[in-house]
Amino acid sequence: MHVIEKKAEFAEYLAHCRASNKTVGFVPTMGALHEGHLSLVKRSVEECDVTVVSVFVNPTQFNDKNDLLNYPRCVEKDCKLLESVGCNAVFTPSVEEMYPEPDTRVFSFGTLDKVMEGEHRPGHFNGVAQVVSKLFDIVKPDKAYFGLKDFQQVAIIKAMVKQLGLKVQIVPCPIVREADGLAKSSRNMLLEPEYRAVAPTIHKTLYEATTMKNDLRPDQLCEWITKTIDATGLLKTEYVQIVNFETLMPIDSFGNEKAIACIAVWAGKVRLIDNIEF
Ligand code: PAJ
Repeated sequence: MHVIEKKAEFAEYLAHCRASNKTVGFVPTMGALHEGHLSLVKRSVEECDVTVVSVFVNPTQFNDKNDLLNYPRCVEKDCKLLESVGCNAVFTPSVEEMYPEPDTRVFSFGTLDKVMEGEHRPGHFNGVAQVVSKLFDIVKPDKAYFGLKDFQQVAIIKAMVKQLGLKVQIVPCPIVREADGLAKSSRNMLLEPEYRAVAPTIHKTLYEATTMKNDLRPDQLCEWITKTIDATGLLKTEYVQIVNFETLMPIDSFGNEKAIACIAVWAGKVRLIDNIEF
């Protein structure tokens, strides 16, 4: 497995792959890899001739300085994991390599980035679009794999691909969970034991809510979810919304449209997100 730090070298490696007519699958990550990330890499290895992964903690998408400072970093361990699942090359650029000068581009996603994560993390999705568009430009992948744990991110990336007229196919992949239901996340390792113990309440409550949709309206269900999660005394719900799958706009009632509940919860100093389809 190649480990490459420079854009030019990575682009050259990819040009070489394409010259031999190989299809390229790409998985962008911020490292501290777990089974959730690896499920995307495995899917790419199954579907594409060559699989490349980026490990880059992108400063422009962090609206909270401490979150960026505390973000777990373990590139050597990540590389071992990636090699074990058949990844062909890892791109590990420095911040200077990715941003030789500040990226001043402002993307516009209409209402898609005004709700939920977009509303609570100002600038977050603009930073995600900046780095993913730069990475797509270097890799020019046939397919790129994203986890549905970050449901809104998938919608943003699809919108960006459409706006920029890129050829890449975006492949959304299911959420991978711990045995107790907690969605796997690089931030889980930052949880103090008492918070880790109650964190599975998030998924458990969302799951229970899906069984109650014939009895309560979406707004009543959101209230119930918040109350149930906050009753742990340790978890604090930042927002929960039940939205249309495509538009991400809150729904008033359960009809035939596909809906999804998205949630952000504070577990001490750690912010966790999750979602469930209705
Ligand atoms: P990161 O949080 O490292 O996640 C990389 C990819 O792994 C994302 O597509 C994310 O949705 C997916 N992922 C994380 N946890 C998962 C889980 N439990 N199950 C399934 N997939 C999971 O998302 C980012 O990085 C960044 O925003 C990035 C796209 C790399 C841009 O910087």
